[in-house]
Amino acid sequence: MDTDGHPPVQATGLRKSFRGRLRVDDVSLAVGHGRVTGLLGPNGAGKTTTLRMLLGLVSPDAGRATVLGRPYRDLDHPARTVGAVLDAGGLHPARTGRQHLRMAALRAGVPAARVEEVLHEVGMAPDADRRAGSYSLGMRQRVALAAALVARPRVLVLDEPATGLDPTGMHWLRGRLRAFADAGGAVLLSSHLLGDVEHVADDVVVLVDGRVVASSTTDQALAAGGGGLEDFYLRLTDGRAGVR
Ligand SMILES: Nc1ncnc2c1ncn2[C@@H]1O[C@H](COP(=O)(O)OP(=O)(O)OP(=O)(O)O)[C@@H](O)[C@H]1O
Ligand SMILES: [Mg+2]
Repeated sequence: MDTDGHPPVQATGLRKSFRGRLRVDDVSLAVGHGRVTGLLGPNGAGKTTTLRMLLGLVSPDAGRATVLGRPYRDLDHPARTVGAVLDAGGLHPARTGRQHLRMAALRAGVPAARVEEVLHEVGMAPDADRRAGSYSLGMRQRVALAAALVARPRVLVLDEPATGLDPTGMHWLRGRLRAFADAGGAVLLSSHLLGDVEHVADDVVVLVDGRVVASSTTDQALAAGGGGLEDFYLRLTDGRAGVR
């Protein structure tokens, strides 16, 4: 909780239908200061839609989504409050990594020198002047992460941030997220990489068919699963492959 008593991320009773089909059904979750929360669930379970509602990109049909106590759209300094990675494929192919980050810095009102810092931090300095269209998935993911970090936000909302990262990149990301949370930040990330989530997340929330079917600390999930987070997940999702 912050000084106002608001959790960094809070969703209460979120509901969303697309074309008459309920895709997010009464989802509530909260991420506290210093916590990394993993949002898990089969393909099509509603994870991205939930994150998009938290970021004001999708309007909920019901419920409320807040970051540090306010709906995203009402934040005074959105980029300095919450850094987001939603779609690493969303980079403009003709712009270089450095250009993307300079634009992100400009929008957030942070000095261009910060761009060089985050480029180094995500290991993209040597490739910063290449066009994003020539980047591998992991390189795009690193630039997207750098953009999320550029304004030193207090909260991170990341949709499958480890996808495409090599083992060294994943190790770096886990360490980075842990350090971010240990410094008081809050992280909500979706992932299918259960081994990764097991190592980095303090809490896990599992969505199936748009509903929260489990919400617990990772330690509780591991104890309940017996053999690890994968066993816990498979039991909850009943071996479901997703997509209805
Ligand atoms: N804009 C949209 N229009 C119509 N249907 C949508 C829209 N956005 C999402 N959906 C549907 O809502 C459901 C949940 O999608 P969502 O992308 O949130 O799932 P997810 O849990 O992120 O899945 P994945 O693990 O594959 O990323 C899916 O059935 C999807 O097709
Ligand atoms: Mg998704």
